[in-house]
Amino acid sequence: MRVHVDPSRCQGHNRCVLLAPGLFETDDQGFAREANQGLVPPELEAQARRAAANCPELAILLDEGP
Ligand code: F3S
Repeated sequence: MRVHVDPSRCQGHNRCVLLAPGLFETDDQGFAREANQGLVPPELEAQARRAAANCPELAILLDEGP
């Protein structure tokens, strides 16, 4: 699985960073971006889904592919 933050949608709510601190980081303006090039280790997939479901701007995209 991979995650991606759509920068055109992110408004800096930072729920993603709180819910999945290993998968997201903030830039110096408080907007999120994916950490580790968006790669999600299997043990963090539930966190990735939770973060995506809780982003008010629907800015987090999940790629369930290999
Ligand atoms: Fe941005 Fe959504 Fe996270 S608005 S900071 S991607 S919770």
